[in-house]
Amino acid sequence: MMAAKILSYIVLSAMAVFLVSAFDPSPLQDFCVAVNDSRIGVFVNGKFCKDPNLTTADDFYFTGLNIPRNTSNPIGSVATLITADTYHGLNTLGIAFARVDFAPNGLNPPHTHPRASEILTVLEGTLYAGFVTSNPDNRLITKVLYPGDAFVFPLGLIHFQLNIGNTSAVAFAAFSSQNPGRIDIANAVFGSTPPLSNDVLTKAFQVDEDVIRDLQSQF
Ligand SMILES: *[C@@H]1O[C@H](CO)[C@@H](O)[C@H](O)[C@H]1NC(C)=O
Ligand SMILES: *[C@@H]1O[C@H](CO)[C@@H](O)[C@H](O)[C@H]1NC(C)=O
Ligand SMILES: *[C@@H]1O[C@H](CO)[C@@H](O)[C@H](O)[C@H]1NC(C)=O
Ligand SMILES: *[C@@H]1O[C@H](CO)[C@@H](O)[C@H](O)[C@H]1NC(C)=O
Repeated sequence: MMAAKILSYIVLSAMAVFLVSAFDPSPLQDFCVAVNDSRIGVFVNGKFCKDPNLTTADDFYFTGLNIPRNTSNPIGSVATLITADTYHGLNTLGIAFARVDFAPNGLNPPHTHPRASEILTVLEGTLYAGFVTSNPDNRLITKVLYPGDAFVFPLGLIHFQLNIGNTSAVAFAAFSSQNPGRIDIANAVFGSTPPLSNDVLTKAFQVDEDVIRDLQSQF
């Protein structure tokens, strides 16, 4: 009886570890172009995959990355993300991609990708980019990037890019997950739904309620 209990506990723990695994699974096949209907696909590795015989070049093709995006927004930057959700050929491959446009002084604000490291390459303009290491040192590591320069942002760390040039800037970024995720620090902390309570925020930031209310009103 006791042995059976222990065994079921071990099995449940193993399942929990499997379920919370944050990394993309290995593909197990050349590719698995995602489809949403089991009747037109085969079930492999946890997803419905398009029948490989019906796969075409268009499943692996994306166009329009040369088109400048509209950066008229309060932060002056916009990221156009290509993930497996929008681009089914990326499914199970463990990668994603983005174009990031910056107006002069535009900022890609401090954020993290909970599931991906990122490598960013500057195509046009001048970016001041950096990330902060985890506790306890919280070291800020930055670099000014010019066209042709690349910079790596390690998995999960808070990072940003600011356009410090006089022209608009363009960068491309590659991610080590088909679904990197994104948490904007300011929006998550001051713009959550419902809002984090003042008791939490005043103590966390060691400021008055007025300051917290002011910050919350921005998001
Ligand atoms: C399923 O995929 C097809 C082909 O990509 C698309 O036309 C259709 O809208 C999708 N349906 C749903 C419910 O997502
Ligand atoms: C795909 O094509 C190959 C070669 O023609 C064939 O052997 C295989 O059965 C086909 N697979 C499916 C799922 O139809
Ligand atoms: C860019 O976006 C702003 C704000 O949404 C809009 O007013 C403007 O017309 C857009 N510009 C272009 C060229 O689409
Ligand atoms: C931006 O323009 C100012 C004034 O024309 C100039 O001094 C500065 O060097 C320029 N900065 C860059 C990064 O080109």
